[in-house]
Amino acid sequence: MSFLKFQLKRSSSEPLYNQVLGALKRAIETGKLSPGTRLPAERDLAKQLHSSRTTVAKAYRELETRGLLRSHVGRGTFVCAIPESAHAPFAWRGKISTSTQRTSDPAMRQLIGKTNGADVISFAAGFPAVECFPTDQFRRLTDQVLQRQSDVITRLGPAEGQPRLRQAIAQRFKVRPERVLILSGATQALDLIARCLIDPGDAIVMDRPGYVGAIQIFRAAGANLHGWDIRNADIEELEDLVLRYRPKFIYSNPTFQNPTGHTMPERERLNLLKLAVRYRIPIIEDEPYREGYLDSPPPKSLYQMDNQDVVIYLSTFAKVLAPGLRLAWIVAPEYIVDQLAMIKQRATLFTENLGQLVMAEFIRTRLYDKHLEVIRKEHRRRRDALMSALQRHIPSNLLNGAQPNGGIYFWGRLAKGIVSADLLQRAVSTGVSFANGEIFYADTRASDHLRLCFASVPTDRIEEGVKRLAVTLKRVGSNRRDRTEQNIPLI
Ligand SMILES: Cc1ncc(COP(=O)(O)O)c(C=O)c1O
Repeated sequence: MSFLKFQLKRSSSEPLYNQVLGALKRAIETGKLSPGTRLPAERDLAKQLHSSRTTVAKAYRELETRGLLRSHVGRGTFVCAIPESAHAPFAWRGKISTSTQRTSDPAMRQLIGKTNGADVISFAAGFPAVECFPTDQFRRLTDQVLQRQSDVITRLGPAEGQPRLRQAIAQRFKVRPERVLILSGATQALDLIARCLIDPGDAIVMDRPGYVGAIQIFRAAGANLHGWDIRNADIEELEDLVLRYRPKFIYSNPTFQNPTGHTMPERERLNLLKLAVRYRIPIIEDEPYREGYLDSPPPKSLYQMDNQDVVIYLSTFAKVLAPGLRLAWIVAPEYIVDQLAMIKQRATLFTENLGQLVMAEFIRTRLYDKHLEVIRKEHRRRRDALMSALQRHIPSNLLNGAQPNGGIYFWGRLAKGIVSADLLQRAVSTGVSFANGEIFYADTRASDHLRLCFASVPTDRIEEGVKRLAVTLKRVGSNRRDRTEQNIPLI
């Protein structure tokens, strides 16, 4: 470790252990030693510094009490946190578990945060047109549910979900209600699936690019992620991955995919399913966008095609109704529903009752189907507004991509040399944001795409947002040309 090549100043009045401590602290502060780095054994560092082992041990212990290092018997001493501000009364950073530190990734929080600035037009987070939310109908149904079952608030509920909502969803899927599990968001569904199926070190094959939330959850569970591009759907490549890595499951969002908007054709779905059955590998089919088609309905889901029980299907009301409802569901073999329900019970006991019962009524009275028609129409309008604005304001040599025919995202390729994350930083300062492409890759680095969620932005704001994006892109694009001409390497 080159930073440790400092000299102890023996003539200094500063105690030797304090000099070691200072050097380590500075190296941690400046990032030369990042969390997770293993430090030399006390004896080795002492030898290197021509000091006593006690000097080094004392520095290590002091840094441990400040929460910057952690020793694990038999494994060594590791950097576990950057220093707290001088005013912090207690070193909480050093108490965070190693696995949490290893897997904490702010990408998702930043994505949602980018939607919050009042002056920023945000194409970043994936929300539907919430202006279409049927507030009056929900208020009326809420009153009805409370009149009929006032104890709904005061009682506990089953971990599997309220029977009425399970029944309503089961009818739509033509399955027994026992195969349906209600959850507080598809995020919870993915988390439970990860806890249920993944052992640390397991391999997972997932979409490349793919849903950032799934990447984070599977990674936090200790999985090694391997990407497969559903746009090519090269089945030989998938077989190769299966043989090489023996994945625990294959995760895919094959319909109006997040982030690309791509939908796998029926034939490719069939090939994927056959391969999964042949190698007995479960498929997790994540389908939040299925009902959000804009032109024509998508092909059958993998779940609908499956007659071997290899598919676990999940979906959410977040992308066609409102993300704030936090209601989602899994359709799976009963044994899996049972296992997941037990894990759910441990984590949260059950999903809040009132929302489930209102949603059950919303579906039963066919208001949900009517709402789907409304939302498709509005999303279509917004999609068309985005495509038209992109065409009018942004030259295709700077940004191009296919028109999505469902879901809520446009996936665009940036001109060579433009780095999506850098562009985002500049864009935010001109009052527009988006999701930078880098965050959707689990096992490769690719910075040449961006994702725009068109559904959450009203049409007049779309026009203004694209104009702002055009300004930034043109500026960054011409800088890039200047640099290329001068042959200066791009960062
Ligand atoms: C493919 C996919 N799965 C799951 C989710 C999370 O949905 P929820 O808001 O219900 O947790 C999203 C949200 O963007 C998604 O795109």
